[in-house]
Amino acid sequence: MPEIHGNTEGVRRTMLQEMEMLYDLEIESGIYVSEDLASLLGVYTARLNREVSVYIGRNGEIVDISIGGSGTVPLTDFRLRRNQRRLSCIRCIHTHPNGNPELSDIDLSAMRSLRLDSICALGVTEEGRINGASAAFLGEMVKGEYETRLFGPVSLRKLPQEDWLAEIQRSEELVAKDEDDETAEAEERAILVGMESEESLSELSRLAETAGARVMQKLLQKRDKPDGATYIGSGKAQELSLLCQNLDADVVIFDDELTGIQNRNLEDILHLKVIDRTTLILDIFAQRAQSSEGKLQVELAQLTYQGTRLIGQGLVLSRLAGGIGTRGPGESKLEINRRRIRERITQVRRELEQLENQRKLRRRTREKNRVPIVALVGYTNAGKSTLLNRISGSEVYVKDQLFATLDSVARLVQPKSGSKFLLVDTVGFIRKLPHSLVNAFHSTLEEVKLADALIVVSDASSPDCMSQREVVLDVVADLGASETPVIEVLNKCDSIAVPPVIAGAVQISAKTGSGIDSLLSAIDAVISKLHQMVCLRVPYSKQSLVASLHEIGAVQEEKYLDDATLVSALLSDEQQKAIARKYGEDIFDGDLSAFEDDKAADGGEE
Ligand code: GTP
Repeated sequence: MPEIHGNTEGVRRTMLQEMEMLYDLEIESGIYVSEDLASLLGVYTARLNREVSVYIGRNGEIVDISIGGSGTVPLTDFRLRRNQRRLSCIRCIHTHPNGNPELSDIDLSAMRSLRLDSICALGVTEEGRINGASAAFLGEMVKGEYETRLFGPVSLRKLPQEDWLAEIQRSEELVAKDEDDETAEAEERAILVGMESEESLSELSRLAETAGARVMQKLLQKRDKPDGATYIGSGKAQELSLLCQNLDADVVIFDDELTGIQNRNLEDILHLKVIDRTTLILDIFAQRAQSSEGKLQVELAQLTYQGTRLIGQGLVLSRLAGGIGTRGPGESKLEINRRRIRERITQVRRELEQLENQRKLRRRTREKNRVPIVALVGYTNAGKSTLLNRISGSEVYVKDQLFATLDSVARLVQPKSGSKFLLVDTVGFIRKLPHSLVNAFHSTLEEVKLADALIVVSDASSPDCMSQREVVLDVVADLGASETPVIEVLNKCDSIAVPPVIAGAVQISAKTGSGIDSLLSAIDAVISKLHQMVCLRVPYSKQSLVASLHEIGAVQEEKYLDDATLVSALLSDEQQKAIARKYGEDIFDGDLSAFEDDKAADGGEE
C-alpha cells in the first residue's frame, strides 16, 4: 500500500489509512482538480489542521500524498529535476488550513525547483470548506529563474478546469524555449560509492563525468561482501544520507550492480536518485549511439536490465527523477511500465533481427570484393578513433570522453606502399562491461570476430595500461577471436617518457603521427600473409594453372571468355608471387567486376 508521506507525527493510523484511499481516486481527463478530491482534502486539512499536498501525474493518477506544505516536506523526494529541460509531468494540489487561497512564495519556489506542471493552493476554512483556489504555472526562464504565471483565486465551482490544463501545455512550450540557455543544463551533483578499489572508483568518476555529472565526493567502503538490503549497510547509508544533504547531491552512483531491492531501499533512505554502474554505462551508451542499430541495441540492453529490477509500484523517485539513468537513446524516454517494457522488448528484437539480416547481406557483398578487414580494439579512450582518423585521413567523432565510439565505423585505407585494407573502429572496452551490453552489441562486436587482423591499441600514458590491455584481450577471447593475428600498438607515446613494455608492440602517437609508418608496415606484413580475392585471366594454353588452383581449393568463380578463362580466387601474397613468377604478372590482369556485372544482370544482391 502506498504511504502517506511528510509530517505524519501524532496522526492516528486510522486517519492515515483513510487518507491512503485517496490513491484510488483517479482524476478524469479534462479535469485539473476534481471537486471530490478538493472536498476530501478540505476535510482532512480541517481535521489535521495541517497542510495536505497531493501530486497528480498527467494520466490523472495520484502519485504521492503528503502531510505538510509544498515547500516543507516532499521537496527532498522531488528535487530531482535540476538537469531536465522539461516539466516534471506532475502537478501539486495542496491546502492552506488558514483559509488563504493565495499561493505563497514558498509554493512558487517549490514549483520552480521541482518543475511542477502547476501548483494549486486551496484555501480551507475551519469547517473544512474550500473557499477558493489559485494556480501557478511556469513561464520563460529569465536571468536564470523561471517566471511564474498566476491565476485565481476563483471559487471551486468556477475553476476553469480545461483552461488550467491548457496552461500546462503553454508552460511546456515556454520552458522548452530556454533549450539553449546554459543555466538550464546544470550538471547533476553526484556522490560515488564503491567497495572494490580506488582504481575502479576513479574510472567510475570518469564515467560519471562523461554522463554529465559533477562528482562531489568519492567514498570507498571496505567490506567483505555487500549488504543484501542496502549494499553498504544501514548505518553507513544513514551517514551517506547526511553527506548527501551537506553536499546538496542529486544522485548517488554505486560502483557495482545493485539489486532492485538495494536500489529501492537506498532511495528510500537517501531520498535521492540512486543508480548503479551498469545503469550509468547504459545511460552513456544511450547518449552516444548513432546508427539505428546501435540505438536499438542500447535500448534493448536498457529495457532488459530495467525489466529485471522494477519492483513494486511506489518508485516515485525513479519515475520523476529524469536525468542520468533514465535517458533512452535519442529523444526517447525509458519506459517504466512493466507491460509496456515487455512489448517494447519484443518490438526492438524484431527490428534488430531485420537490421541484422541487412548487415549480413552487406557483409556478403564485402566478402565478394574481399578486402582484408583490420579491426581496432582497445580500452575506452585508448585513442582508437584518433588512430583511425590518422590512418585513413577521415573525420570520425573524436572526443576525450569515454565511449565516443559506439557504432563500428569502417574506412577503406590505401597506403602508398602495401595493399589496401578496410579499417574498422569498434566500441571501447571497459572493466565490468555489463553483460546485457555485451549481448546487445553482439552483432557490432561481430566485426571483431570477422576481422582478418586486430590492432590492439593500448594507452601508454595510462597508469592502468597493462590491466586495461588484459581486459581487452579477455573480451577478444570471449568473442572467439583469439586466433586472429594481433598487432599490438602502444599509443600516446608522445605524452610519456618511458612507455610500458609490451613485446613486439609498435610505439606510436596517433596525435602527432609518429610511428604510423611502422604501424602501416606491420599491418602490411600481416595482411600479405592473408588470402586475398584476386582475378586471374588464364589463356587456354595455360589451363593447367586453373586445375592447380582448383586443387588447392582457391577458386571462387569461373567465367569462360573467347580466349581465356576468368578465375576469381582467394590467394595469399606468397601464392600470388609464386604464380606471377611462373606465369608472368599479366596473369592477374583479370577484372573482378566482370563477375559483378553478371550478378547485376541476374538481378543479384544489392
Ligand atoms: P572510445 O570511443 O571511448 O573507445 O575512445 P577511443 O579509443 O576511440 O579514443 P579517442 O580516439 O576518442 O581518443 C581519446 C582521447 O585521447 C582524445 O582526447 C584524444 O585526443 C587523445 N589521444 C588519442 N591519441 C593520442 C595520442 O597519441 N597522444 C595523446 N597525447 N593523446 C591522444
